[in-house]
Order: sequence, then C-alpha cells, then structure tokens
Amino acid sequence: METFASLAYLIAAICFIMALRGLSHPETARNGLTYGMAGMAAAIFVTLLLPSVSSYFLIFLGIALGGTIGTIIARRIEMTALPQLVAAFHSLVGLAAVLVALAAFYNPEAYGIGAFGEIKFASLVEMALGAAIGAVTFTGSIIAWGKLQGTISGKPFIFPGQHKINAGLGLTMVALIIMLCATGHPFFLWLIILLAFALGILMIIPIGGADMPVIVSMLNSYSGWAAAGIGFTLQNNLLIITGALVGAAGAILSYIMCKGMNRSFFNVILGGFGGENAAVAGDLGDRHANMGAAEDAAYLMKNASRVIIVPGYGMAVAQAQHALREMADILKHEGVDVKYAIHPVAGRMPGHMNVLLAEASVPYDEVFELEDINRDFAQTDVVYIIGANDITNPAAKNDPTSPIYGMPVLDVEKAKTVLFVKRSMGSGYAGIDNPLFYADNTIMLLDDAKKMTEDIVKAME
Ligand code: TAP
Repeated sequence: METFASLAYLIAAICFIMALRGLSHPETARNGLTYGMAGMAAAIFVTLLLPSVSSYFLIFLGIALGGTIGTIIARRIEMTALPQLVAAFHSLVGLAAVLVALAAFYNPEAYGIGAFGEIKFASLVEMALGAAIGAVTFTGSIIAWGKLQGTISGKPFIFPGQHKINAGLGLTMVALIIMLCATGHPFFLWLIILLAFALGILMIIPIGGADMPVIVSMLNSYSGWAAAGIGFTLQNNLLIITGALVGAAGAILSYIMCKGMNRSFFNVILGGFGGENAAVAGDLGDRHANMGAAEDAAYLMKNASRVIIVPGYGMAVAQAQHALREMADILKHEGVDVKYAIHPVAGRMPGHMNVLLAEASVPYDEVFELEDINRDFAQTDVVYIIGANDITNPAAKNDPTSPIYGMPVLDVEKAKTVLFVKRSMGSGYAGIDNPLFYADNTIMLLDDAKKMTEDIVKAME
C-alpha cells in the first residue's frame, strides 16, 4: 500500500507542476486547471486509502462542507473580487497550519513524533515554524482581504516606530522558538502563535492598497511554506512538495510584480506607498483638460490607420471587454490595424487583462506585452485607454518626486491622439494624479467604460 501511495503522490506532484506550467498562459490555463484537479483528486483518493485514516465520517463531513461552500463562492464571485477571495482562502491555509501544529503538539503519539512533553527536537522545530508562518499568514491575509474588499481603508496606515516594533516582535519570536525547542513547554507555543497573529496584522496594515496584489502573492508563498511545514509534521511527502511548489510560485510571482513596478520587494513590505498625493489627485486647479464624446472617439478611430487599446482595472470593473471586442471588430472591418497593449501590473492581479480579453475571444496574436509594443506608440494614430490610469502615467518617467518614479509605463503619450475612458478626473490605485489627462493631445471621455464603448460602437455603426 505504501509503495502505491508513494507512486500516486508522485503522479499528483507531477500533475501540480503541469498545472503551474499550464497556468502561465491563457491558452493553456484550462488544461492547467484540469491537471490541478486531477492531481488533487488522486491525492485525496490515495490519502483516504491509507491505513492511518481512522474516521471516514469526519473527513467526508469536512469535504462536503468545504466543497459546498467552495462551490457556492466560486459560482457567485465576480472577477473583480478574485484577489480578496484568494486572500481569504490563504487565511484558511494559515489557520490550518496553526491547528495542525497544535493538534500534533497535544497528541504527538498520533503523528509518531514522540509523547506529550517529549516530542522529538526536529518535530518541535517544524511545528514552531509551521505555526508561526501559519499565524502570520492567517491575520495578514485577513487584513489584505479587508483592504481589498474596502472593509479597511486601502491607504497605508503608518505609525511611529513600526519597523522597530516589527523587528522586535520578529526577534522575540526567534527567541521563543528556541525556548520551545529547548523546553517543549506549551506556554511557548501559545506565545509564538499569539505574537505571530500580532505580527501578521502589524506587517500588512502599513501597506497601501496598490501594493496589495504583491502582498497577496507573498502571503500565498507563506501559506505554501506553512503547508510544507505541516507536511513535515504529518510526514506527508506530497504536502511537503505541494507546499514548496506554492511557496516558490508565490515568491516568483511577487518578484515579477515588483519588477513590473520597478520596486524592490523590501520597499513593498516596508509599506507606506501610495497615499502621499491622493488629496490633490483629480483636482483640476487652473489646468485644462479636453473633454470629448462618443461621436468624437468614433470619428477619430474610424479615420485612423493604427489604434492601440490599453485596458486597465476600470475595464474589469465595467465588464467592458465584450463591447471592446465589438468595437475592435468594426475597426478591423474598416481596415484599421488594432492591437492591445498589456502592462504587467494592469488591473489587480497578474494576467487580469489577458483573462478578460480571452473571455471576450480577443485573438491572442493581437495582444502584446509592454516590452513588445512600447515602440509602436510613436507610429500610432489613436490610443484608446479604457479604465487604465497608473500604468500610463508619464510621471513614472519624468518626475523623480513621484512615488511611482521608475515604474515601467506604456508610452501612450507618443501617439497622435490619446483617448482616456474613465468616469472622473480622479486618481488610480496608487492615489496619484496623472498629468496625461491635461495634455494637448489627450481627450477625456468621462463615462463608465462599458457604456462609453457601447456608445462609440453605436456611433460607428
Ligand atoms: P488604476 O491605476 O487603478 O486605474 C483604474 C482607473 O479605472 C481608475 O482611475 C478609475 O477612474 C477607472 N475606473 C474604475 N471603474 C471604472 C468604470 N466602471 N468605468 C470606467 N473607468 C473606471 O488601474 P491600472 O491602470 O490598471 O493600474 C493598476 C494599478 O494596480 C497600478 O497602480 C499597479 O501598480 C497596481 N498593482 C497591480 C498589480 C497587478 S498584478 N495587476 C500588482 C500590484 C499593484 P474613475 O474612478 O475616474 O473611473
């Protein structure tokens, strides 16, 4: 039985690797998900056959409850709410790590790691690390969920001496882990968990809303390492492999996002980004912005040779992708060359725009990444920016005082005409003003992205 289980676990692990590979491109994402589901089904099935399973009732009750709640949530959830859902799910993985560590601590015989008060040293280390990372992930993910959901303000919450307090808590936790391993006393385990709960809150609360996707991905990585920690406690190789895969994938994703914003990872986790200029954002002052209507946009685009569409978070909010595709179809029919430019951090999660465009059946060969299309803006007649803001902000290139200075942005201002579809002159996620709204070659089309695009389609027809 053990050989069969090891073989099945190996196959499941391969399925998980194939799932990650598939998820790296919209075209292969569905296959990736199928591999993931097959791997998980194999893992659950084989685990149920193991002789160490003592109660099928509790396991099936858990599966039925979790499966029902998961199905209802997955059916109801809006695409725009996925980041906070992911954060909420990570909090459960963190809590599971804490509970397994406690269960193993109080009933070590069941896990074959010694007797109460005489747990093996290596197991105590694994348990302490699993519980600490799990507890940080639990409260950190709840704060991330609150910020993304709008339950807690997305603005960075900064307090005096925050870094010193966090560093102090971190060092105290290391000392407590050493004490737990030396004495095996439950007091230290409970203290580690409580301190880690506090650290999770204090670490995430100072971070601004714009950085939350990086934080969610970082917490995803933590939840993976916490799961790997549980894997060691439970002596389950598949959990160790899967946890490590999730941990590594989350860390790589965080790195890719930081690169997309030209920020260091430490700059993100030290927090405080994105609130500075929020008060002035959208305030016209003595500046002038050109306002336009759907008819102007329709005329300009129909008479253009090249149009580049730049989607952003607002397109996702308005669910404007289908109307956008319809508009692009009309333009292509008129002989206009239409392309889509995707910034690596457009929207609120990696690949957000690609998924929406794929949903509207936009051909993949019309969709280009920043580095592949940035040169084309100078030869473009019209750029249609739909619900995007920060990713086009030229302050990232020419204002060293801007908080987003250094972030790679799309060179949209080089096009002959820039059409900006959004509802107001307000700021984007980073909370900063966009000077492009007031440029001579910019026309603001202030309306909901879907409604404006539908109006343009009508005007074109
Ligand atoms: P944003 O800069 O947030 O701009 C989105 C704009 O859409 C807003 O200014 C908003 O203006 C407009 N909008 C919202 N709802 C709309 C609607 N229904 N119709 C029309 N417009 C609407 O988004 P972006 O340009 O996609 O940039 C992404 C931001 O997220 C960046 O700051 C980036 O650093 C951050 N971020 C993203 C990621 C990932 S992985 N995607 C990771 C880390 C950070 P109005 O309110 O005036 O309509």
